[in-house]
Amino acid sequence: MRIFVTGSSGFIGFHLSKKLLEKGHTVHGFDSMNKYYDVKIKKERLKILKRYKKFFFTRNKLENKKILGQSILKFKPSIIIHLAAQAGVRYSIVNPEAYMNSNITGTYNIIELAKKINIKHLLIASSSSVYGANKKLPFAEIDKTESQLSIYAATKKSTESIAHSYSNIWKTPITMLRFFTVYGPWGRPDMALFKFTKGIINKKKIDIYNNGKMYRDFTYVDDVVNGIVALINKAPNVNQLGKIKNDSLSPVAPFRILNIGNTKKVFLLDFINELEKQLKKKAIRNYMSMQQGDVKITVSNTKLLRKITNYNPKTNYKSGIKKFLEWYLNYYKINKK
Ligand SMILES: NC(=O)c1ccc[n+]([C@@H]2O[C@H](COP(=O)([O-])OP(=O)(O)OC[C@H]3O[C@@H](n4cnc5c(N)ncnc54)[C@H](O)[C@@H]3O)[C@@H](O)[C@H]2O)c1
Repeated sequence: MRIFVTGSSGFIGFHLSKKLLEKGHTVHGFDSMNKYYDVKIKKERLKILKRYKKFFFTRNKLENKKILGQSILKFKPSIIIHLAAQAGVRYSIVNPEAYMNSNITGTYNIIELAKKINIKHLLIASSSSVYGANKKLPFAEIDKTESQLSIYAATKKSTESIAHSYSNIWKTPITMLRFFTVYGPWGRPDMALFKFTKGIINKKKIDIYNNGKMYRDFTYVDDVVNGIVALINKAPNVNQLGKIKNDSLSPVAPFRILNIGNTKKVFLLDFINELEKQLKKKAIRNYMSMQQGDVKITVSNTKLLRKITNYNPKTNYKSGIKKFLEWYLNYYKINKK
C-alpha cells in the first residue's frame, strides 16, 4: 500500500513508518522538524527511515497547503495517517497559537486533501486528554467529552468534530485515535519518563506534579503501532451500524473514534520507584502542586478496539521502562553502574 504519514520524524510517526516499511509498504513521510524539542533526535529518526528504499519525505508545515497538496497529489496514497501535531499540555498554555495552527489548520488541510483524493481511510491522532474532567473510569469512546481542561485537548476535540462533519458530508472514512501516554525508545524529551530518567542520571531535581498523586495509562509505543497497523484495513462503514456493542461509529457517517491504551492505570510514584530501581539511583524529588490543564487519572477502555482488531497490548510498565532505558543508556552512551 501507499501510505502517507504526517509527523514521521516524531516519536510515534517514526515507529509507525518503520513498521510499515518493514511490512513492505511504500511510505511518504511529512514533517516540519520543528524545534518544540531537540531536533537532533528527529533528524536521527529520519536518518533511519531514509535507509529504506520505499521511504519518501517532504519537510514542510501542514499549514503550507500548496506543498502538502503537491506531496499528497503526487504520491497518491490510499491511506493517510495523520500524526503531526503540536503536542504537550503545558506548552499550550504559553503558546496556544502553535496549537491552533498545527492542530486545527493543519488537520483541516489534511482532511480537505483526503476528501479531494477520495482516500480509502484517513486515521487521525487524537488524545486521551479529550476526556478532560470526566469522572467515569475507564474512559470509553461513547462517553461524553465536553470538558477539556487544556488548550491542547480542546484542539484535539475540535479536530474530532471537524473530521466528523467532513465524514458526514463527503463520506470520507475517518478513524480518530485517542492515544494514552505513549512511551518507549526514541521517546519524547518533553515527556515524564524521558525527563525523569535524565534528571535521575544527572542528579538533578525532578518535578513531580500533584505530589505524585496521579495515575497514567502508560502505553508502550509498539502496542500503539500494532493497534494503528491493525486498523488500516478497518475503515468505518455505515453498514456496520448496530453490529458491535458500544460502538462509537457515527450513526450518519463513516466515522469512528477508538482508544489505544494499555488499559491499566499506573500510580505515578510506583512508576518513579520502578525507574529508580532499574537505574539503581535515587531521584531528587521536587513535589509540586497540580499543573494547570492537567488531569489526575487516565485509563482506557479498549474493548472496542479489541473487537475490531484483536488488539492486545503486551508490554507492562516495568518491561516498558526496561526497554526504554536500554535505548536511552545506549543512545547517550551512558554506562549503567
Ligand atoms: N505521545 C503521546 O503520549 C501522545 C498521547 C496522545 C496523543 N498523541 C498525539 O499523537 C501524535 C504523535 O505524537 P508524538 O508523541 O509522536 O509527538 P511528536 O512531537 O514526537 O511528533 C509530532 C511530529 O509532528 C511534527 N509537526 C508538528 N507540527 C507540525 C506542523 N504544523 N507541520 C508539520 N509537522 C509538524 C513535529 O516536528 C514532530 O516531529 C500527535 O498528534 C499527538 O498529539 C501523543
